[in-house]
Amino acid sequence: MSSNLTAAGDHPVYDYKVVRQLAIMTIVWGIAGMAVGVLIAAQLVWPALNDIFQPYTHFGRLRPLHTNLVIFAFGGSALIGTSYYVVQRTCQTTLFGGKLVPFTFWGWQAVIVLAIITLPMGLTSTKEYAELEWPIDILIAVVWISYAIVFFGTVAKRKTSHIYVANWFYGGFILTIAVLHVVNSAAVPVAWFKSYSAYAGAADAMVQWWYGHNAVGFLLTAGFLGMMYYFVPKQANRPVYSYQLSIVHFWALISVYIWAGAHHLHYSALPDWAQSLGMVMSLILLAPSWGGMINGIMTLSGAWHKLRTDPTLRFLVVSLSFYGMSTFEGPMMSIKTVNALSHNTDWTIGHVHSGALGWVAMITIGATYHLLPILFGKKEMYSVKWINIHFWLATIGTVLYIASMWVNGIMQGLMWRAFNADGTLTYSFVESVVASYPGYFVRFLGGAVFLSGMILMAFNTWRTASTPAPEQSADSDTQAQAV
Ligand code: HEM
Ligand code: HEM
Repeated sequence: MSSNLTAAGDHPVYDYKVVRQLAIMTIVWGIAGMAVGVLIAAQLVWPALNDIFQPYTHFGRLRPLHTNLVIFAFGGSALIGTSYYVVQRTCQTTLFGGKLVPFTFWGWQAVIVLAIITLPMGLTSTKEYAELEWPIDILIAVVWISYAIVFFGTVAKRKTSHIYVANWFYGGFILTIAVLHVVNSAAVPVAWFKSYSAYAGAADAMVQWWYGHNAVGFLLTAGFLGMMYYFVPKQANRPVYSYQLSIVHFWALISVYIWAGAHHLHYSALPDWAQSLGMVMSLILLAPSWGGMINGIMTLSGAWHKLRTDPTLRFLVVSLSFYGMSTFEGPMMSIKTVNALSHNTDWTIGHVHSGALGWVAMITIGATYHLLPILFGKKEMYSVKWINIHFWLATIGTVLYIASMWVNGIMQGLMWRAFNADGTLTYSFVESVVASYPGYFVRFLGGAVFLSGMILMAFNTWRTASTPAPEQSADSDTQAQAV
């Protein structure tokens, strides 16, 4: 397989090698991260599974491994890979940076391997989504700055007159994550793998959730919106519904998101005005979020019939529906009185995974199915039928996961706040755990179904890569590939 494919016409020879490497690692890390997710889901049903290799396989150590693998390994590889593809295609130029390009690939993979080693060993800063200790944090900063140089360097040497909106979203995500990571990870090292945060008390909590929420806003949202603005129009073979709306969407989203983090700290030691500000900004956030969703979905105007035959497009469009759902639910959960019920319950976990599985994973899967045949020099995926099966496994898996967590969450919230006439609690905490078991089993089942779809995707990818071009796929008439 040659490292560079010659594009049609007078296009330059794009660098697809790094994109291909990252697309493959997206699938590999997706399977690994989701497998750990299924394992920790099983541990909540059958607690004896915690004891397999104590203390390394304890839920408390595997949970951050799951979040790091799915967010940074799976999501990160998908974002870096697709941004390298999109920025080249839309700027009509090759990647800037020479050896920095492979360095960003290998550096990012090294960060993930270090996470896989250190987290089960219990080496952690204890800050959620920023658990990795300071030497790894420094490596992340170096790799991320190199990534920024490659991305913005490519934008700077573009052959086109304007910068396509997908690059604005990718660019916003790259810059903001750099700032968030550096500020939140500031720490005083006391040993090679032990450090203490530079902040204390409520200030530490505020910095942490300013980081945590904007990791959601810029990594799990803005970056993937960049993906959306390129791959939805491409796969539908239609222009973006409203280019003006996409620009308003960008500026509104980034200027509001950054203020909303305090909704994670309701009823805490944080000043009351800061909590209320977080709530109000979260409510306002509904508008740009839905503006973006509508812009994406309406891009299918005149192309709705393609959904019948093109499962890749279905992945992309259904991901937008889940995006709309989770960005409606989030603002509702940020209302203080609603949060009094939802906080610390499985409702939050349901919300997280309607965003994570429904939005982040589905748009990634759709974009990757679009990319793989191009990256392997094939006309289409080995089997479009398998993509269709994967679509249903992913949709059913997501619905089982989030519905069971909503039921569990609301039940837990109501049980915890139920009082008897004499003021004593109606239920002990353990009773609410026992009542949660059926939901935990359904969540485990949903996760396993979603994971089986990812394994099918890996198999389809392997067959696509290994089948000689003339012999590929029997069902060639079913997929509209907008290359
Ligand atoms: C308008 C958009 C959104 C708003 C206003 C919002 C709001 C919220 C609120 C209020 C919570 C509960 C905080 C708590 O009680 O502790 C939460 C948790 C969370 N949300 Fe969202 N959400 C939004 C969209 C999303 C999306 C699209 C994703 C994922 C792709 C996501 C991922 C998360 C995560 C990971 C948490 C759990 C954080 C933790 O406690 O570890 N959110 N969100
Ligand atoms: C097969 C798919 C998956 C399964 C079975 C799964 C399972 C789980 C489980 C059991 C937890 C711990 C819940 C708890 O502490 O009560 C969890 C947490 C979490 N997962 Fe997943 N997960 C999956 C996929 C994903 C994906 C693709 C993402 C992100 C892109 C993701 C992001 C998260 C996050 C952010 C948390 C922490 C939530 C919080 O602290 O509020 N998961 N997952």
